Amino acid sequence: MRERITGLIDDRTKMLAAISHDLRTPITRMRLRSEFIEDETHRSRMLSDLDQMRSMLESVLSFLRNGRRLEAMTLADVASTLQLITDQFGDIGRNVAYDGPTHAMATVRPDDLHRAVTNLVENAVRFGAEAVIRLRVSADQLTIDVEDDGPGISDALKQNMLEPFVRGDEARNMDEAAGFGLGLSITNAIAIAHGGTLSLHDRQPHGLVVRMRLPVRQQSERSAV
Ligand SMILES: Nc1ncnc2c1ncn2[C@@H]1O[C@H](COP(=O)(O)OP(=O)(O)OP(=O)(O)O)[C@@H](O)[C@H]1O
Ligand SMILES: [Mg+2]
Repeated sequence: MRERITGLIDDRTKMLAAISHDLRTPITRMRLRSEFIEDETHRSRMLSDLDQMRSMLESVLSFLRNGRRLEAMTLADVASTLQLITDQFGDIGRNVAYDGPTHAMATVRPDDLHRAVTNLVENAVRFGAEAVIRLRVSADQLTIDVEDDGPGISDALKQNMLEPFVRGDEARNMDEAAGFGLGLSITNAIAIAHGGTLSLHDRQPHGLVVRMRLPVRQQSERSAV
């Protein structure tokens, strides 16, 4: 799978990477200039558009990076990371709750994990009104579920959505916050880089559950990576 994802970095994605990279500088300049716009509504809209452009570029770049270079494994508190993400979405007025233990130490790639779960919650609050991040810890694995109350994804499309650059029709028609269709594939690549899996499930009565299972490393393996 990892090879297949790396293999997808063809001419098209290379070009996208180059453009994404080069666009960061003018966007930063525009951000600075926008601060001088006097009309407050106009200024804040401009800044939020620029933030959106920046985050789209970050997802392209992080997708390409994930195919090549891996962050080091470190002992981290996964429960704190998930609570931080919950708060970060709360700060921008999104309805996200955390359900799980207060602390859960595990050896993970912390920034990648943060990015992976953030991608899932971004989708959850875009397609649903409420999202829940659940963490379950067992002796040999961590299970992170991101649930929403949106329309879900049909069985026929579930597997497809994990592929890069694949977006649902409704997402393509949304002009606001529409991305490149990379969020789920980046998250999938991050789960695989942890030796784990990502799977999509139906939530009752409606909605999606995206489940990330990560193996918990034994003490002796900790220094190995
Ligand atoms: N929680 C969800 N509920 C319903 N559909 C979803 C959900 N998450 C993802 N999808 C569907 O899967 C598609 C792919 O999701 P993905 O996160 O990979 O891309 P995106 O959100 O469209 O763009 P990006 O993440 O790059 O900003 C979405 O366009 C949408 O159709
Ligand atoms: Mg997304």
